[in-house]
Amino acid sequence: MKALGKVDIEGRVRLVMEGALTARDRVGVQDFVLLENYNSEAAFIENLRRRFRENLIYTYIGSVLVSMNPYKELEIYSKQQMDRYRGVSFYEISPHIYALSDNTYRAMRTERKDQCILISGESGAGKTEASKKILLYYAVTCPTNDRMAALGDRLLQSNPVLEAFGNAKTLRNDNSSRFGKYMDVQFDFRGAPVGGHILNYLLEKSRVVHQNHGERNFHIFYQLLDGGEDDQLNTLNLERNPQNYRYLVKGNCPRVSSISDKNNWKVVMKALPVIGFTEEEVFAINNISNLARLLGVDGSALREALTHKKLTAKGEEMITPLNFEQAEAARDALAKAVYGRTFTWLVEKINQSLALKDEIYHSSKGSSVIGLLDIYGFEVLQHNSFEQFCINYCNEKLQQLFIELTLRSEQEEYETEGIAWETVQYFDNKIICDLIEEKHKGIISILDEECLRPGETCDVSFLEKLEDTVGGHPHFVTHKLANGKTRRVMSREEFRLLHYAGEVNYNVNGFLDKNNDLLNRNLKEVMCQSDNQILSHCFRREEVIDQKRPEMAATQFKNSLMKLTEILRSKEPSYVRCIKPNDAKQPGRFDEVLVRHQVKYLGLMENLRVRRAGFAYRRRFEAFLQRYKPLCPETWPNWHGRLADGVLTLVKHLGYKDEEYKLGRSKIFIRFPKTLFNTEDVLEAKKPEIALTLQTSWRGYRERAKYQRIRRAVIQSGWRGMKARRRAKRRRQAADLIRRFIKGFIYRHGEYGPENDYFLDHVRYSFLKNLRKNLPKSVLDKSWPTPPPSLVEASEHLQKLHMRNMVTKYCRIVHPEWKKQMMQKVVASEIFKDQKDSYPQSVGRLFLDSRLEREQISLKVVQTLGNDKVQYGVSVIKYDKRGFKPRPRQLLLTNTFAVLVDKTKIKQRIDYTALRDIALSSLSDGMCVLHITREDNKQKGDLLLHCSHSIEMVTKLAMMANKTNNVNINPGSIQFTVARGKEGIIDFVRGAELKVTKGRRGHLLVVSQRLL
Ligand SMILES: Nc1ncnc2c1ncn2[C@@H]1O[C@H](COP(=O)(O)OP(=O)(O)O)[C@@H](O)[C@H]1O
Ligand SMILES: [Mg+2]
Repeated sequence: MKALGKVDIEGRVRLVMEGALTARDRVGVQDFVLLENYNSEAAFIENLRRRFRENLIYTYIGSVLVSMNPYKELEIYSKQQMDRYRGVSFYEISPHIYALSDNTYRAMRTERKDQCILISGESGAGKTEASKKILLYYAVTCPTNDRMAALGDRLLQSNPVLEAFGNAKTLRNDNSSRFGKYMDVQFDFRGAPVGGHILNYLLEKSRVVHQNHGERNFHIFYQLLDGGEDDQLNTLNLERNPQNYRYLVKGNCPRVSSISDKNNWKVVMKALPVIGFTEEEVFAINNISNLARLLGVDGSALREALTHKKLTAKGEEMITPLNFEQAEAARDALAKAVYGRTFTWLVEKINQSLALKDEIYHSSKGSSVIGLLDIYGFEVLQHNSFEQFCINYCNEKLQQLFIELTLRSEQEEYETEGIAWETVQYFDNKIICDLIEEKHKGIISILDEECLRPGETCDVSFLEKLEDTVGGHPHFVTHKLANGKTRRVMSREEFRLLHYAGEVNYNVNGFLDKNNDLLNRNLKEVMCQSDNQILSHCFRREEVIDQKRPEMAATQFKNSLMKLTEILRSKEPSYVRCIKPNDAKQPGRFDEVLVRHQVKYLGLMENLRVRRAGFAYRRRFEAFLQRYKPLCPETWPNWHGRLADGVLTLVKHLGYKDEEYKLGRSKIFIRFPKTLFNTEDVLEAKKPEIALTLQTSWRGYRERAKYQRIRRAVIQSGWRGMKARRRAKRRRQAADLIRRFIKGFIYRHGEYGPENDYFLDHVRYSFLKNLRKNLPKSVLDKSWPTPPPSLVEASEHLQKLHMRNMVTKYCRIVHPEWKKQMMQKVVASEIFKDQKDSYPQSVGRLFLDSRLEREQISLKVVQTLGNDKVQYGVSVIKYDKRGFKPRPRQLLLTNTFAVLVDKTKIKQRIDYTALRDIALSSLSDGMCVLHITREDNKQKGDLLLHCSHSIEMVTKLAMMANKTNNVNINPGSIQFTVARGKEGIIDFVRGAELKVTKGRRGHLLVVSQRLL
């Protein structure tokens, strides 16, 4: 199913390609699969370059979108552009991120399958921008849901806030995301966005206390200092100059020309209320941005905690002072912990604001999800630490998923088309993933072990352990293990991993600490007492008491990645592969070495090879035939046989060799682009000829038209004579006619015959004509013209027919609500009409959807019922089977069972399958008995109910339980089972007013009001 859908989408893409086939010399090909030399990296890059020069930043590889960062604003993201990519006009347009967004959306809608868009590329390549464009596209183009009109807005506004706290200037990107982000957007059955959820991955916390040269701390700090009001800074006891804060100027560049902290501050402050932050929370956030002070804790306690360590040894608490370095480390650890936890809190908070609020949607099967993954790209710095290790590991995992999924979908398409699959050589990076994550043997396990091992451990001992355990691995090298050449570029504290994307040297310094990610216990204790509401939320008492060690950072990360790949695997993926053209963030510059490197490690050539393993080009038969049919006399202008035969005839005529193409079930596959290009050139050459043919036939048509005109002129003169003769004849006939008419009137009561036939026919005819003008317009209008004697029977038939016709028409336009009402009324009439005294009274009253308001039904009961939604509820009085004590209850009907509820408690459940019948009296009381099958031991037995809306209630119950034929109406009395073998009886009599009492012989006596 999916394969077909995708094929269609891709088919469209190819139509676009064909539109541009003629322009291929100037702007290259829109889809890399059309590169003749698909093994040539040079050709690939040349195609990228040509397109980049023309500002064509998007190119496909089949269904994968390759995107070049233009480093300048292009006019291709307007509302008009969005409209161009929706619906019909899709064919004729070039590749675009909107096209991918739209395809994904439509695939979700039509195939009802969750989708995800994976955006990858190195830092600064445009991933985050791409994800924003996609969100914007959905926010603008999707239908809105009235109740959640603001959701699109909230989705968009969550971005600047997350970016303020999670992004920073790095050497590679002035707005680099320092955390991974996976966002789900949930759509309802109509395709309106109704909810969102964000998962965040590994924030680079070390940035809070340290930045490399030329880099900054997280944006928010600078934004606050630059954009905050004077009073605000005063309250927070802050000074405007960032130079006064050591944490902010480690990278020595607090100001960046490309960033306006002041404006961004305003943007963030505007966004916070939109995504549901209260004023106090905004204030508390500001407080936290000011790490130096105002943690809302007791100053001396903090000082104490920052300079001393609390240890628990042999059950005794000992306090030891820290030396200067240790104290500094404690301070840094605290700063990191506060920031990291606040960030998590922020994401949680945003999630609350994006969460699906309406329970209907939780259970609705119609809703689907599009996931957006914008996660840190592969990163190689001068010094690579634990963070880069995690980031690059993450990229390995995603690459693995990419390989797995693209190969799979390609293979699926070949299978559905019935074409043999040929294997492709590609690099499977599983070996590297294993090296990192394997249990007990992988780098992460070794790191964890080293952190937990008692005795002296340090980063270097970790390195040695690595050498011992994975030293022989082909993708692992250290200084000691390396050969001379490599050894020269490696320090003794580094290990090198040969990632799929390139080699990276990791410095082990800090690995253990960062993996441990520990905060002294006494610092935690102090933080727990904070009166800043966010901090007290982030630091929980339980944590201090809990002695269990939390999971190590790398393992946590590994586990969250496992979960992520699970999520992604369950969805239908689309890919955006981002490439940066240069490192200088400059428009128009194409640095070939840099681009080649990315093309290589993004695996684009392999991707292309997989696509081209068999065939460069595939198209549905009809589309192929439509385009190229002028090239073959048998298929031009129209082919009438089977499509496949038409395509075969066509390609045979074109001289395709057997190895050049294959016919699948619905598509033709062409192996080499050259074959297609040749065909396209032939078509191009043929166009003047086709035009000529069309022209000649047009001329012929024109000549013929002229001839016709002349002919008509000749005929006209003859025509005039004839007309005069006809006029004379008509006068004669008219006189005859009048004579016949008068004669007919005289003989009108006689037998139908030559005397009166004309007259009688005329009477009939005029009746019918009159009738047509005066047909009743509504079913209630009973008027009908009087027919002449000869038409009485026909008239009756017509009247019935017309009535039926009106009824049908009425039914067709009747509102679904009303239709439901009437269906129920019809059932009620079938059951009760002429059977029950109270029925006539009920006819005029509408049945309601429910007699209980939503608030009247206890939430607890609704929760217990879970997915079984209450379809109808009504107050009833239940009579005990022994003693007949009356008890007020609610009767709730779901689709498969009914329950009897006492305030918040479900007292009895009646499965419809166990309901034998419903018994009522023929009088006007509201009593009814539900007879329950006795075989089912789970059931509590028969039920005696009184309901003021008994007709409505019984009708609904009978319809829902499919028991309309099992409603019994008894004139005198009804029996019921009290217990096994013991029967009870209700007697019904007429009286002055309704009364339910104990009668004789232990019967229940119901006195029904006599109706007038
Ligand atoms: N489509 C685009 N149009 C214009 N500028 C872009 C585009 N994509 C990226 N950029 C520029 O490149 C910068 C880095 O992009 P970003 O998406 O933050 O990279 P990544 O998330 O991959 O690290 C952006 O701040 C922006 O200036
Ligand atoms: Mg980013």
